[in-house]
Amino acid sequence: MDKIYIIDMGSQYSHLIARRVRELGVYSEIIPPNISISDLMVLSPKGIILSGGPSSVYEENSPKLEESFYEYIKAEGIPILGICYGLHLIIHQLGGKIEPNEKKEYGKTELEILDFDSLFSSLDKKEIVWMSHGDQISQMPDGFKILAKTNTCPIAAFGNEKLNIYGVQFHPEVVHTAKGTNILKNFIYNIAGAKNEWKLENWIETTVDSIKEEVGAINRVILGLSGGVDSSVCAALLHKAIGDRLHCIFVNNGVLRKNEEFEVPKQFREKMNFKNFHYVDAESLFLEKLKDVDDPEEKRRIIGHTFIEVFEKKTIELETEHPSIKFLAQGTIYPDRVETAATSKNAAKIKSHHNLTLPEEMKLTIIEPLKDLYKDEVRKIGKQLGLESELIDRHPFPGPGLAVRCVGAIDKEKLDILREADLILLEEVRNAGIYNDLWQVFCVLLPVKTVGVMGDFRTYEYICAIRAVESKDVMTASFAKLDWDLLEKIGTRIINEVKGFNRVVYDISNKPPSTIEYE
Ligand code: XMP
Repeated sequence: MDKIYIIDMGSQYSHLIARRVRELGVYSEIIPPNISISDLMVLSPKGIILSGGPSSVYEENSPKLEESFYEYIKAEGIPILGICYGLHLIIHQLGGKIEPNEKKEYGKTELEILDFDSLFSSLDKKEIVWMSHGDQISQMPDGFKILAKTNTCPIAAFGNEKLNIYGVQFHPEVVHTAKGTNILKNFIYNIAGAKNEWKLENWIETTVDSIKEEVGAINRVILGLSGGVDSSVCAALLHKAIGDRLHCIFVNNGVLRKNEEFEVPKQFREKMNFKNFHYVDAESLFLEKLKDVDDPEEKRRIIGHTFIEVFEKKTIELETEHPSIKFLAQGTIYPDRVETAATSKNAAKIKSHHNLTLPEEMKLTIIEPLKDLYKDEVRKIGKQLGLESELIDRHPFPGPGLAVRCVGAIDKEKLDILREADLILLEEVRNAGIYNDLWQVFCVLLPVKTVGVMGDFRTYEYICAIRAVESKDVMTASFAKLDWDLLEKIGTRIINEVKGFNRVVYDISNKPPSTIEYE
């Protein structure tokens, strides 16, 4: 299958570029700038895109490519597209000049196209593009042609047809560049000549076949099922491949949402007909271990370790019954893998939460069928496998669950209060028809008691904070500007219906500098 590789120069948009390329029907992955030529040769790229990045080419530690990289792509005739910093780097390393621009350009800009033969084929003379840069090209190396300009940037795109090297100063991957998709399409199909081969329908068939082959006719597979999108889709896929030789373990860790311990088993046992769905109630064990612990990292650590302990115990029990259990499946997806391996040291921000790994002594072979997929692809696969949209379109829910939404030391009483409020919030947000527009929406219990008055009585109860955020990439998020009437309805219901809260506040912090979760 043809592949386009994205060299990550530290841009927050690297994943977006890769996703756009996949949406256009060509498989793509992210690789670091220091990748060796021998590794690159193994990957055999059909084309390479150099991402943007926060650095300037003149900074000592800014990401660079080896000379051998240029020799290799020239020798193999591999087409290159540089975006923003990627464009600067090509020019800088091939003998041109980059200079800081006095007038920095951020936001929407009109691009005037001067050449329609390659990258800009079928575009209009004037197009709106998204700029975000301080440096720009002041001198081009020999053989490079100007393809477009803006009012303040005389070389906004270049091309060297002989070497098959192209560059754009703006960001074709973001939606604000109106014809960005056409530009990427021109690069991957017309310039790189990639074939349209990345189709999710084929993916399910091929993956089911390869799971069958890998697991064999008798072996069994264990999967930790949280009820989140990734593990649920992973379960559905494995079930399609090996049927009831899949054993799912669902652990009630005491920090689940209200009713989740009933709904998840019901979905899989009744609606999807899973025969080997194992429910483990470990609520009291988790809460006992978490008693009086108020340090957020310690809470996370305890939850992670206790989960492994419980999971391991159940697995050993199942292994005794079914010695043919030889595999452990995980719902790891592509961004988890890239972030865990920290593709490049340049990636500006890296998520610190990963899937749990079990002790090596368990000697189970790991299978991660979703490891090459993005979340939106996982959702599409889930839909094709017949999972309900309520499950597929669920907001992300952190591994440590409500523990990181109940600030400080937790106990069952506080968690129950939080669960009631959260249920009301989700119900109202769903009724308002905005659930799918939000990245996440949830309640937080702030362990501060304030005074209220209910009827003739004064109350002294906790504060409920409501957090609703919009985000595209999780690295940044803005608080959602929910309708006042909706907020009033939610607040009133929580105060009237949930014993334990007498005050509701709305969180108006953006990420960064705040985070989405509270701990
Ligand atoms: P923050 O709070 O860092 O969260 O802005 C970013 C995203 O990650 C989720 N999150 C977690 N997911 N285990 C997880 O599986 C965790 O420990 C964890 N902490 C945060 C969070 O819900 C948000 O979507």
